[in-house]
Amino acid sequence: MMRWPRCRWKWTGVGDVQPLWSRDAFAKAVGGTLTGTFESPVTGISIDTRTLSAGDAFFAIQGDNFNGHEFADAAIEKGAAIAVCRTGHFSAGSGPVPRLDVEDVLRGLEYLGRAARARCKGRVIGVTGSVGKTSTKDILRVAFKPSGTVHASAASYNNHWGVPLSLARFREDVATGIFEIGMNHPGEITPLSRMVRPDIAIITTVEAVHMEAFNSVEEIAAAKAEIFDGLQSGGTAILNRDNPHFAYLADRARSAGAGQVIGFGSNEAADVQVVDSYLKADCSVVNANILGANLVYKIGSPGQHFVMNSLAVLAAVKIAGEDVAAAALALAGWTPPKGRGFRREFPLGTGILTLIDESYNANPASMRAAITTLGQAEPGPGGRRIAVLGDMLELGEQSRVLHASLHKLIAESGVDLVFTAGSHMEALYDALPTEMRGGHEAEAAPLAASLPGKLGPGDVVMVKGSNGSRMMDVVAAIEVWLGTG
Ligand SMILES: Nc1ncnc2c1ncn2[C@@H]1O[C@H](COP(=O)(O)OP(=O)(O)OP(=O)(O)O)[C@@H](O)[C@H]1O
Ligand SMILES: [Mg+2]
Repeated sequence: MMRWPRCRWKWTGVGDVQPLWSRDAFAKAVGGTLTGTFESPVTGISIDTRTLSAGDAFFAIQGDNFNGHEFADAAIEKGAAIAVCRTGHFSAGSGPVPRLDVEDVLRGLEYLGRAARARCKGRVIGVTGSVGKTSTKDILRVAFKPSGTVHASAASYNNHWGVPLSLARFREDVATGIFEIGMNHPGEITPLSRMVRPDIAIITTVEAVHMEAFNSVEEIAAAKAEIFDGLQSGGTAILNRDNPHFAYLADRARSAGAGQVIGFGSNEAADVQVVDSYLKADCSVVNANILGANLVYKIGSPGQHFVMNSLAVLAAVKIAGEDVAAAALALAGWTPPKGRGFRREFPLGTGILTLIDESYNANPASMRAAITTLGQAEPGPGGRRIAVLGDMLELGEQSRVLHASLHKLIAESGVDLVFTAGSHMEALYDALPTEMRGGHEAEAAPLAASLPGKLGPGDVVMVKGSNGSRMMDVVAAIEVWLGTG
């Protein structure tokens, strides 16, 4: 591969930057009409000038809040190799240069994504499911590292622009590509999976989330099964054996041409089965049978849900023919990202306060997982297990019932005290026994103001809610109070 000269981008501090796309391959894949001179290879793909690096190709995507065309000039000023814009948006003599004008910018990005998939020589894994996609994708990234180069979607880039963007960033010579595929509505996964064309398709689980767009959880299962529409012929489906929709999904996989279906979970019929697992203060220890071979391994964070995700991951490693022991060893170094179970310890008074940040996302499945994990945490001397919960959004008509019904698990799991914020969480607060009620606020902001002073040494505090519930503000307030924010 050509080595890109150091001089032009030395200031970025990233050193040598290998081209991602040659100028010709890029222009051929995206199509369109060129204005100005497009000479440089493309070293990255950007849709956001705030994170753009010199050498990136900038795609002026029309989003919900921003129109990328307004930033196209800035992209070129920041050193973008080319700006891809909609034909007719800029009149002759105006707009950024160099520029490729295309009929539809998102379509152009999709073409590039498809070209990346077509040229890739490695294996491709697609991950979907109602919950745990990003966590599983991140665990896959760590597990495949010992067997070669890995490319994975950034953050939760799993939608109509996130998937083609992640594909377009996929380098030709990478051994393993891992792509998150998500949906809010039926029919969204089919076109995305046909772009990704996974060799291995993982469905983490099927749960009643995003219910506003669905009449039943069966409809959600059907929408998740769309991932098989893109599965390579003879490819592998890895499915949650404990989920009631397993048989349906397995049938859908086989009729779509899957060569094999692997079930993971604690069910006796699972091909990848957890035999025992132990949650320690800072890790999970797992004894599992991975397609006939026994293995004991450690995951760098406690959580039964992470144990389940790791089974799907090790199944993928085994199916890919890679070293399962090396992958399992690497999992000891995995910790969840911020907002998804990220845990830290802070000195407080004479003891330690443990903060578990789950503020990025919440639905009944991940809420149950987080409460169970909190219940198994060991508080320090004098400490308590404290749940700080914001609304789970997009649950439709059943929302208040689904919130209130958490009270049973909370009481059984060993949580000592609960603080809540939001109108849906009020239903849970009212259902709790009086001694467990720490306080309720209409929204996150007043809770962020009042909560920190109520925490003490030894406490384990888990903060969780849907992103829109702004529970990250509560996390930030605790951090500031602890002097670390
Ligand atoms: N298998 C699982 N079961 C239940 N909860 C899980 C599981 N895996 C991860 N979680 C928890 O669910 C939350 C969301 O996790 P994650 O971001 O991995 O899900 P996602 O499917 O990618 O979500 P999104 O739809 O927002 O992209 C986190 O709090 C995480 O700890
Ligand atoms: Mg995600």
